[in-house]
Amino acid sequence: MTSVADANRAFFDNMSQTIRQDPIKAQWIAGINDKVTNFLQSHIDWVGLSHTKTNAPDRNIRHLDYACGDGVLSRALHPYVTDTVGIDISPLTVSSYNTTNASLNPRHPIRAVVGSLLDKSDPNPVSLSTPEFFNFDIVTGGLAFHHFEDAAYAAERLRKRLRPGGVLVLTDFLTGGDMLIDDDGNVVEGSEGDHYSHIRRHHANGHGHHHGHGHEHAPDTTAAKGDIKKHTMDSIVVTAFSIQEVKDFLANAGFVDIDVRVMPEKVFVDFGKKMLRTIMFAKGRNPGDGKDEL
Ligand SMILES: C[S@@+](CC[C@H](N)C(=O)[O-])C[C@H]1O[C@@H](n2cnc3c(N)ncnc32)[C@H](O)[C@@H]1O
Repeated sequence: MTSVADANRAFFDNMSQTIRQDPIKAQWIAGINDKVTNFLQSHIDWVGLSHTKTNAPDRNIRHLDYACGDGVLSRALHPYVTDTVGIDISPLTVSSYNTTNASLNPRHPIRAVVGSLLDKSDPNPVSLSTPEFFNFDIVTGGLAFHHFEDAAYAAERLRKRLRPGGVLVLTDFLTGGDMLIDDDGNVVEGSEGDHYSHIRRHHANGHGHHHGHGHEHAPDTTAAKGDIKKHTMDSIVVTAFSIQEVKDFLANAGFVDIDVRVMPEKVFVDFGKKMLRTIMFAKGRNPGDGKDEL
């Protein structure tokens, strides 16, 4: 079986190319990015970055955007930090990140590199071991944890990259937060639930499995009717997290001051089945120096 890491690399390499040829997909992804950006920037006090570069010009605020994609969270936090590094497992995505964000460069360094901190057989990859990859004030993981094999392990590896007192902020989909859209484009009232679960990948380690028994199932035939490619399913480990699940894996990873906020406005998603989904924002602080601000 393909590993989750390989599936992610293949899927997101493919996605970074196809998105350019599929304006409809590009449009709804841009819609998600706009809503996430607006929510994050309007909750910047909650993130802990209320002192911007402008009102704290002498401060160096370093941001690691893990699983950065093309950099939506890098751009959202760009006005509030002084140095941005992205890491992503997909080489074509990293290339897209560096092209897309190159023009932001004059304001402060912003670049991404290819890599993974989540390979348990290589937990400290040499290419990510230089000082520039440590001691971040803030680490983000946007819509990424549902693609990770072991969320608590991922959170713990990212905590190691924070300075004492630094903050991890992640976004992901909320369990029970989906609503169906009908053929006319209308929301199906009363359809709140877990509709993305039709393409849930039943992973061998049982993570995210609805029924709690950790064996492999054949993919749901509902999914096969859509245009969802097999590697899409293979790259997804869980389709959503409950608030408690996120709090638990952050606590297990050693974070304190954990908090979760749910974005009230849902986002439109269409991977062969049109629906609205709910995004949550979670944060946790790396214990250490007792400071509660970045
Ligand atoms: C759904 S995209 C989200 C991108 C972006 N963070 C956002 O918020 O839109 C998930 C990203 O996670 C990356 N990814 C998946 N597994 C990874 C891993 N083990 N290490 C680093 N990046 C990974 C993928 O290549 C992809 O760019």
